[in-house]
This record gives sequence, structure tokens and C-alpha cells, in this order.
Amino acid sequence: MKTIDELVQDGVEGKRIFVRADLNVPLDGTTITDDGRIRAVAPTIAKLAAAGAKVIVASHLGRPKGAPDPQFSLAPAAVRLGEILGKKVSFATDTVGDSAKATVAALANGEVTLLENLRFNAGETSKDDAERGAFADALAALADLYVGDGFGAVHRKHASVFDLPARLPHAAGDLIATEVGVLKKLTEDVARPYVVVLGGAKVSDKLGVIDNLLKKADRILIGGGMSYTFLAAKGHEVGISLLQEDQKGKCLEYLAEAEKRGVEFVLPVDVLVSADFPDLKTKAPANPETVSSDAIPADKEGLDIGPKTRELYAAKLADAGTVFWNGPMGVFEHPDYANGTKAVAQALLDSPGFTVVGGGDSAAAVRTLGFDENAFGHISTGGGASLEYLEGKTLPGLAALED
Ligand code: 3PG
Repeated sequence: MKTIDELVQDGVEGKRIFVRADLNVPLDGTTITDDGRIRAVAPTIAKLAAAGAKVIVASHLGRPKGAPDPQFSLAPAAVRLGEILGKKVSFATDTVGDSAKATVAALANGEVTLLENLRFNAGETSKDDAERGAFADALAALADLYVGDGFGAVHRKHASVFDLPARLPHAAGDLIATEVGVLKKLTEDVARPYVVVLGGAKVSDKLGVIDNLLKKADRILIGGGMSYTFLAAKGHEVGISLLQEDQKGKCLEYLAEAEKRGVEFVLPVDVLVSADFPDLKTKAPANPETVSSDAIPADKEGLDIGPKTRELYAAKLADAGTVFWNGPMGVFEHPDYANGTKAVAQALLDSPGFTVVGGGDSAAAVRTLGFDENAFGHISTGGGASLEYLEGKTLPGLAALED
């Protein structure tokens, strides 16, 4: 992969560079609640602008249905990006229309613009190669060079991620280079014990990665919504907890495979339960009850790991040589159910090993719970992307930057 330093050495002054970023940040109305992804890609944009390029930043946000939808506008991201860069970032109110063309044409050397959400155009995510290609052609007409730096979206075969780099001379941005360097380390020369912590709602999202990690990790600790399907598979009552009935067989296979391979596969021993899902807006006290994980009352749901599990998981992480963590342990957005996720974050900080926090919810959790993000080995900006990388899949957005 060509680096942006090589691109800059070739000379980029006055060149229009399309930077595919992942500015898919969480929003509360128009307020960005976690700007980690914007801060992560800002150095690439700053470097290209400092070299005199005309920088055209583009991204998706959320999952609009191929047409403009104001709740998914990237306008707030343009303002935040401007604050981080310390310079004005102009904003095009469309992707390849009159506004984009005029905004790009108005760029002086060293200036930056952000296009509106790429997914407002159906061609971006289309499964039809010709439809995606047509959108990529229109995007290519805006620029002279392409820089891929939207690590969080490299697992998507989308027009701006996969088809556009085939149409323009391209390079990988500094964020992608860092992310790939770290994940490579996790697949090649891991320091042991290699401990993986997986949480989040659905087992089905983690199937591929569990499959692959069973061959690599020494310990796998399970928390969050997905743990209830494992507990149910073992024959325990899980009440009204999140459950993927159709995945129970797969869970049993994993437990058997782990035993065969000598991988410690650890499930919660206690959980916090309640009859009601907490109010995340008012954060009114939820008064959860702590129960053993094999004794969840039939009318209650598990919403966080319990105190004994927090201690157990901290102990399992205490001597780790390498840790990969993806997915919260509970409904961390409510203070009564944040302690499990906090305990895992703290255990990573206390661990002597190299710690990697997989993106998405776990990265946002670490920051919103007030941990110092610089104290972790690496916080990835890609949730799905880092999982798919660890599954050993070919990621379209990385493959497209290879040649
Ligand atoms: C993410 O948040 O994981 C990336 O931005 C990709 O978003 P997507 O899952 O909507 O493609």
C-alpha cells in the first residue's frame, strides 16, 4: 500500500484529494456525543492540507435509505472537523450534485471541504456493480487522487470504499496504516496469554470471530447480551434476557471446541437483573438485583455482569500478554449497569500486556465512562471492521488500496 507520505513526496500541491473517512459518529440530535472518529482521521487531513492539497473529505453517517434524510446529515461533523483542524471546513449539501461541484471548485490550495452523507445516494451501498460504479464515476470526477482512511468502513464493498480507488491513483491514510499495523500484531506474534473479551448484544455478530479466535486465544471471556444465549445453551433459565434461540447449538459447539483446544471459555457467574429495561434518558435509579447466572428469575432480564464476574474477569486479565476487547458487558449507558464495562476497562488498564479496544460501542464506552483513551494500547475506530479483520476475511476497502 502506498502511504500518504509517499503521495506527498510525489507532490500534491493544488491536487484535489478525495479522503474517504469514517465520520459515522454518535449523535444526540445535532450534538456529537463521541468525536473519536473525527479526531482519529484529522491528522491525515491536516497533513494533506499542509502539503497544499485541496482536500475533499467524504463519509457515511448512520444507515439512511439511499436518499437525503436530515437526521443523518454530516453538517455537525463539518463544524467539529473544522474545530479540530483549527480551520474552516466548507460543507457541500450533496454528494455529487451542484453543491459538491461548486464547493470543490471553490477550494484553494490547503483548504478542506466535507461532502454530505455518501449514503444519501443509493449508488453508494448498491449490490449492483453498475449502479455502484456509476456513483464512483461521479465521485471520481471531483478529484485527482484518492486516500482511503475510513478504517471503520473498510469491510463494506461500497462505491466510495471499493470502486472509487480503482478509478484514481490511491494511497492509504495514516489511520488505516496504524489500525492495520495493530491488528496484524494480533494475528501474528501475540504475547501470551492472549485474552479476548467479547460482549455486545448478539452472538450472531461474533460467530466468525469466535471461530477464528478459538484457534488463537488462550482465554475468551463473554459478557453483554450475547452471554445469555450461551447461558441458555447450557440449560440455564435466562428469563426475559436477550436470547438468540437459533444460535444455542452454535454456542454449544464453541464450548466443546474450546474444551478440546484447551482454551478457557468463561461465562458470567452472576448478573444484575431487573424486570424493566432502564430509562436511558432520565437515568432514573434502576435498583437492579444481583443473582447467580444459573438462577435468573423467569420475569427478569440480565443487564450487566455481577460483582463476582467483575472480579473473575479482572483476575483473568491480570497476567495477560495481549488483550482484545470488543463489546460492552452491559447497558453501560445507565450508571446502574455500567460497572461491568468499567471493570473490564480498568482491568485492561491494570494489565501488563498490549491492550486493544475494538471500535464501536466499546470504544465509545471507554471514553464516555471517563477513561483516559491514551492509557490503552490502541483504541480501534472500527468495530465490524476490526472483527472481520480478525476473522481473517479480505476487507474490500483494504484490498482496493493494495495495488
Ligand atoms: C461502523 O460504525 O461500524 C462503521 O461506520 C460502518 O457502519 P455500517 O455498519 O453502517 O456500515
